[in-house]
Parts: sequence; structure tokens; C-alpha cells
Amino acid sequence: MSLQLGRQSFGNFNNAGNVLTEQEAKALLDEWVLNERLKLHMFQVGGLMGEWAKTVENLDETDAWRWKMAGLLHDADWDQWPDQHCKKIIEHLESLNIDPEIIRAIASHGHVHFGVEPVTRMDKMLYAFDELSGLMHAYSLMRPNGYEGMERKGAMKRIKEKTFAANVSREDIRDACERAEVSLESLVDFIIAHQGSFK
Ligand SMILES: [Fe+2]
Repeated sequence: MSLQLGRQSFGNFNNAGNVLTEQEAKALLDEWVLNERLKLHMFQVGGLMGEWAKTVENLDETDAWRWKMAGLLHDADWDQWPDQHCKKIIEHLESLNIDPEIIRAIASHGHVHFGVEPVTRMDKMLYAFDELSGLMHAYSLMRPNGYEGMERKGAMKRIKEKTFAANVSREDIRDACERAEVSLESLVDFIIAHQGSFK
């Protein structure tokens, strides 16, 4: 089954700045994502994207929401339509005339699968947070106090341990950090500091 999108252009330039409200994005998730674990994953990636946009990229609230929206919706079709991932959510957002940068970021969050290279900062950070966020969440679940007291050293050990969260691609994580020009350590620290608060 190929998930290749077969195109490199997404949305319409004239729709730049068009977004859903947070309420609308969450309503879409409620309708499309029945799996609560997957929903939590999207809240976490969305939360990380918004927080990173504000505090590291120094973007304003409007732009930070665009980043967060990309994170919130990036796997929206994975639960019910895995064979149409991420074609279905992309086409849906295009039909709603959503900002093309958001749609493009979603289309490039797995370039090996979808055939779209991450180019913008938003693309690259979504790609970078996606897999690592999941691994860090798995690590939090095996700790008695979750994210509380979590240290970089323990997380790095889990990342090196290939049998831990074995479905998480270490190669994607390495590749994503390189493309985004951020160190793995700084991403790990950022996730430790913030991920526990996204629900
Ligand atoms: Fe994801």
C-alpha cells in the first residue's frame, strides 16, 4: 500500500492565513479520531508545535496557532482511514480553503511515506516532533511520576535502546534534527519541559 501523495503543491496561495478555530480543529478530531491515544498524540504534537513557535521561533499568537493547528491535525485521518493517510486530511483542509503552509506541513511530516520533503520551518519541526514526542510519551508512561523529574540522560538512553518503542524510527529522528538544525538534546529537553501539560 503506497501513501505517496504524487504531488508537491498543496492548497491555494490566496488562502494564506485561513485557519480553523481551536474549537473547530478539536471538533474535527472528535469526529475523525476515535482512538484516545492517537488524539492525545496529536494534542501533544500540536502543543509542542505551538510552544516552540512562540518561545523558540519568536512567532506571534496568530502564527503560533498555525503551527499548533498543523500538529493537532497531522494524523487526523490515521485512525479511521489508514490507507488514505494523509491524503484525506489534506484534501479536507483544501476543501475548507485552509492556509497552504499548514497543509504542506502535514503533507511532509513523513517524507519517506508521502514523497514530500520538509522545506519550511513548520514542516521541519512537525517532522522532528512527531516521532520523538511518541517515544518520550512511551518513556513517561513507564516512569512512576511521568514527566515529573524526568531527565535528559534517561530519555537519551531510551532513544539509544532500539527495542524500546521499537516502532519509532530513530533514523527519522536523526534525519529530522539534522534538517531542522536542532540538537536532539535540545528537543528532548523541550519535550520534558512541556509535553506533560498537553492534554
Ligand atoms: Fe504523528
